[in-house]
Amino acid sequence: MQIVNVDAFQILDSRGIPTIECRLTLSDGTMVAASVPSGASTGKHEAHELRDHDTTVYGGKGVLTAVRYIKQAIAPAVLLGKSPDIIAMDKQLIALDGTSNCAALGANAILAVSIAVIRAQAWMEGVELFELINALWQFPAPTLPRSMFNIINGGMHAQGALVFQEFLAIPQQPDFAQGLACVDDFYHRLQEVLHIAGFGTAIGDEGGFVPLFTDKGVLAEEQVFGLLQRTAEQFSWGAESISFGLDVAATHFYNAEHDRYYLHDKQLTAAELIKVYKDLVERFGIVSIEDGLAEDDWQGWQLLMQQMKGIQLVGDDLLVTNTHRIEHGITEQAMNAVLIKPNQIGTVSRTIDAITLCQANNLGTIISHRSGETNDDFIADLAVGTAAGQIKTGAPVRGERVAKYNRLLWIAELLGA
Ligand code: PGA
Ligand code: ZN
Repeated sequence: MQIVNVDAFQILDSRGIPTIECRLTLSDGTMVAASVPSGASTGKHEAHELRDHDTTVYGGKGVLTAVRYIKQAIAPAVLLGKSPDIIAMDKQLIALDGTSNCAALGANAILAVSIAVIRAQAWMEGVELFELINALWQFPAPTLPRSMFNIINGGMHAQGALVFQEFLAIPQQPDFAQGLACVDDFYHRLQEVLHIAGFGTAIGDEGGFVPLFTDKGVLAEEQVFGLLQRTAEQFSWGAESISFGLDVAATHFYNAEHDRYYLHDKQLTAAELIKVYKDLVERFGIVSIEDGLAEDDWQGWQLLMQQMKGIQLVGDDLLVTNTHRIEHGITEQAMNAVLIKPNQIGTVSRTIDAITLCQANNLGTIISHRSGETNDDFIADLAVGTAAGQIKTGAPVRGERVAKYNRLLWIAELLGA
């Protein structure tokens, strides 16, 4: 079976910002599609996202150049007339680009093609996408992930009063569908708790609520945990069925010139910020902290690891799904878990190389969406096929977030059968 047609076009992501959809037609007439997400709180070491920078349309964020590269450069050189082959084609995409960070063709163009290719290959081989991933790279048996649900949005994902970016609800049920039901219940109870406490219940980019805090006496982030704890005590599954996590996204309130973290009216050293985390961890059921320190603050990360034993410490902006940076993090003992975002590194194969490296070094892996998403549910199959263990894909609301949860529910049916 060969790829007989390649199409690409500009679509909108969940924030109304352009992104790319790629469509491949196979010689049996089947068409597969893939679209790619985009971050807001991006790390500076991420692969290059190609934008048009024509400020007369979409504020310069159009992706028509990247679309043209797919049709005019990638299609004839890599795809047309060939059988879909993810490992070979990912290598050819990287070679055609010729840079270390996808700066020539754009990681958005390359990833859209890469995901479309692996979908086409799964179709050709008559297997589910997660089965193909699992077999090609020989992962342990396909496993449904535990989810971390972003239920309160702050930082760059909301125009609110919260400096920390994400407050995550983590269900304790090992079963995916039960965990989803538990957090869905928690989310709706939280909506009531917020309403009764006089907060609005508008939602942010990833579907979490955006409460506005005016009491300057208490850290707003601490007030959030107070509300989450109250909700946990009131909802029907019981407080012991849920724990909490944070994605602090500390890069985005770090001032490099003064080497300080600007948390509301305070200017903190890394050690002082870690004290804030310790206090929150002791008082609330927090089990995971992502990007607690800035993307190049390796010393701060080491201190965090030494001082916060027993907590999952996740590198996102720090590592950007890049095997070189993950290797450095392993040497420095800077983290014990890694966030995995395909568009930070550009191809499916490179994403899987990062996961393999983590698993070989006993690091936790969390497959992740971006704040600007599409309805593409590739990361659900990626999480199951690689037996990653965890996934982070927003609140249990908004079409682009539930697309992933719904795909996982279907996979649960398939695996159950
Ligand atoms: P982003 O946020 O997609 O805006 O980068 C997600 C995250 O930081 O984990
Ligand atoms: Zn993050």
